[in-house]
Amino acid sequence: MSPQPTLSSTDIPQLSANADVNAWVVRTAELTKPDRVVWCDGSQEEFDRLTDEMVESGTLIRLNEEKRPGSFLGRSDAGDVARVESRTFICSEREEDAGPTNNWRAPAEMRAELERLFDGSMRGRTMYVVPFAMGPLGGAITQYGIEITDSPYVVASMALMTRSGQAALDHITPGSEWVPALHSVGYPLVDADGTSRPDVAWPHNEEKYITHFPETREIISFGSGYGGNALLGKKCFALRIASVMARDEGWMAEHMLLIQVTNPEGRTFTITGAFPSATGKTNLAMLQPRLPGWKVETLGDDIVWLRKGADGRLNAINPEFGFFGVAPGTGYDTNPVAMTTIERNTIFTNVALTDDGDVWWEGMTDEAPAHLIDWQGEDWTPDSGRPAAHPNARFTVRAEQCPTLSPDWNAPDGVPVDAILFGGRRATNVPLVFQSKNWEHGCFLGATLASEQTAAAEGPVGKLRRDPFAMQPFAGYHMADYWGHWLDIGADLGDAAPAIFQVNWFRKDADGKFLWPGFGENVRAVKWVTDRLAGKVPAVETPIGNLPRLGDIDLEGLDGFTADDLVPLFEVSDLSWLAELDVTREYFEEIGPKVPDALVAQLDEVGTSLKEN
Ligand code: PEP
Ligand code: NA
Ligand code: MN
Repeated sequence: MSPQPTLSSTDIPQLSANADVNAWVVRTAELTKPDRVVWCDGSQEEFDRLTDEMVESGTLIRLNEEKRPGSFLGRSDAGDVARVESRTFICSEREEDAGPTNNWRAPAEMRAELERLFDGSMRGRTMYVVPFAMGPLGGAITQYGIEITDSPYVVASMALMTRSGQAALDHITPGSEWVPALHSVGYPLVDADGTSRPDVAWPHNEEKYITHFPETREIISFGSGYGGNALLGKKCFALRIASVMARDEGWMAEHMLLIQVTNPEGRTFTITGAFPSATGKTNLAMLQPRLPGWKVETLGDDIVWLRKGADGRLNAINPEFGFFGVAPGTGYDTNPVAMTTIERNTIFTNVALTDDGDVWWEGMTDEAPAHLIDWQGEDWTPDSGRPAAHPNARFTVRAEQCPTLSPDWNAPDGVPVDAILFGGRRATNVPLVFQSKNWEHGCFLGATLASEQTAAAEGPVGKLRRDPFAMQPFAGYHMADYWGHWLDIGADLGDAAPAIFQVNWFRKDADGKFLWPGFGENVRAVKWVTDRLAGKVPAVETPIGNLPRLGDIDLEGLDGFTADDLVPLFEVSDLSWLAELDVTREYFEEIGPKVPDALVAQLDEVGTSLKEN
């Protein structure tokens, strides 16, 4: 067979007002050699056409229109179910700039490798050009990008997760800044010699590269069709590349939720929260308060960009347009708001299919259906001995469907932040809620954020999995410099800086039992945060921070839970904390000599005051 003729540059539409965008599209098409190039306009017609085509080709299953209108199920390949941190690279000019927490490759070397992989990688496929905005169109904090992809699943998902299409393209003007984000599943349908192979439901490649070029603000992703690896506006742009932009330009890109909390007097507080993956960030973002008269409104569940406004305060936006949430564990009892959000117009990935064409996953209902088709397309019954949904099964849905969405969520220049929460999954040591002594101490709390890998019973401090500021896999530069940037931001904001708190819903007793009911009851800790912001209650100064007086935690209506039950939730054990500080000191040494002196000083100060205690 003879090689396929490739598109000539005159067949490649060039629809941008920005010549660099057009040149990049032409160059990419010439390298990847697709059959055709399609610019996406972001319309409903386009979404419907793409999803129809994916149902036709077997990539998506249309769910029962009566049960789950406008919704689809996709099943990924078993080898492409999650972010691949081992294949994620920061390609800064100097290895030192990627720091100890990122994989690094020299940019020239990485580009040469990618050039080889992308050469012809879209043969037989359509190359889609997806303009997108991260943030409200025209907003002061908003950034723009173009994703090129050969995956219609990615195009449809980007249409739910970002403001994409013509409206975003219109904001990329001659000379304006935009981030090129190149993606291919790495499964061409035609070889260089012209041999063709059939498509599969979930094309991907064994060889995966999720690469970031911080100096030139580029993203190149090869071989995976999965969320965080392929929807490049999300983790790749809005966190890894944006964190570098933010460092250079004096703003912040953070792995945070964003909510507004209104107390019974009608005063509203804006709160962001950095929580490591799998610590209930989406649940807190959609909290249904279990205290009468309280309201929580949702602005974001994963990413927040923050920038100082004209009034000197820190303003926040959610740069995303949708939620890419973990399905398992989400049910009407644990997160009814999420369940309502995903009643329609949702793309599910790797959940189970019910016999009547709806979806199910572990934790959706107490009892599993008698028969399902599992996430791999196999028959499943409750005695199958394996989960029906993949533990990382996801829903993808527009934020506008969230019943608790704040009317401010689209505010072009963001909303001023009152408080920042840090929360890990800690069986020991960390109280239910407390306040940092000041911004620098708050940065210490963020830098030392961690989750325990082992149960409390195994020792005073279990092995800690570090996730500083919940940014371990997402900071696009040296972690110590990122901590330094946090300190700089606080110094610049001065008295206008948000207050910083730490929360922990996961403390356990000696038998390994959770001490706090969690979920909707977490509003009781949030209430104390807002009472502090409003100046309503004093705090108790301790070596580790400013703790509530136990009587200030509202237990009204929390059946069977008494003030005595609060005691172990707020216990500060000097010995156990001193042991933890030793571990923290070792951790700072691992991060290296660039750890800011101010954070080492915080460590020393906590240690000294514990010993004096
Ligand atoms: C993802 O895996 O794409 C993702 C959004 O990650 P996480 O839920 O861990 O933040
Ligand atoms: Na993941
Ligand atoms: Mn996340």
